[in-house]
Amino acid sequence: MMRQLVIVVMIVIANKNLKRRENYRKPVIAGNWKMFKTRDEALFFILQVSEAMPSSKDVETIVFAQAPLMRCLIKRQGLNLKIGAQNLFYEDEGAFTGEISGPLLKSYKVEYVLIGHSERRAYFYETDEIVNKKIQAALRNTLRPIVCVGERLEERENNLTEKVLERQIKGAFEGVKAIDMKNIIIAYEPVWAIGTGKTATAEMADDACGFIRNEIEKLYGKLIAEEIRIQYGGSVKPENIEELLSKENIDGALIGGASLDPDKFIAMANAAVK
Ligand code: PGA
Repeated sequence: MMRQLVIVVMIVIANKNLKRRENYRKPVIAGNWKMFKTRDEALFFILQVSEAMPSSKDVETIVFAQAPLMRCLIKRQGLNLKIGAQNLFYEDEGAFTGEISGPLLKSYKVEYVLIGHSERRAYFYETDEIVNKKIQAALRNTLRPIVCVGERLEERENNLTEKVLERQIKGAFEGVKAIDMKNIIIAYEPVWAIGTGKTATAEMADDACGFIRNEIEKLYGKLIAEEIRIQYGGSVKPENIEELLSKENIDGALIGGASLDPDKFIAMANAAVK
């Protein structure tokens, strides 16, 4: 009886691993520098990490820098280190003082842009509708959005996490075509875990990422849901990244504070290879 049980468990595990390999999603480790680093500090960071990044066959690595740094950093990005933008405006040009256009980012050969980060939602009043317009702007300029979603503390405490995620996902992808989903990454970032040192447990993060995958399946079907990469973000550091990445639905990390330190960034990029 015991032996049969062991065999059944082994078959279940083997099937799960097989499934994971079939639906291989390359991990993506991204640093969000927010409003940190001057030109010299940024250049020093790139110099230190570029050569130490793992192969692009195993993991994709990006740092999101302030817009004026694009030009000098892009020229120095390494084989496997991309420079992304933290924001763009939803119109392609016009009288919008201080905003950053998709065509400008494209002209610098930027590939990735962050959209809907909770700090943008909180301090710059970005609604789901604005997030949606920004995604459309990114896609029409052949930029690849990392779309951030996540609940606030009071929403989690009132059991509203799934409702909030459902609303954010539906709002963000309204009118976005299935064919464009291959250019999109989603980052699940519970607001209460950002910059607070409070990481969601790996199980909580995996559950939320699984819920998001399910929502994508409802909108776009199973294949797209299995292929889309979903990152976790919120107080990720070298000490907790391995456990987070070992989870079925977590395909990478979006890292704020710990990504400012070259040694920590190198360690976290390499942790994704194991
Ligand atoms: P944190 O920030 O890693 O400092 O919590 C994450 C983010 O804001 O993307």
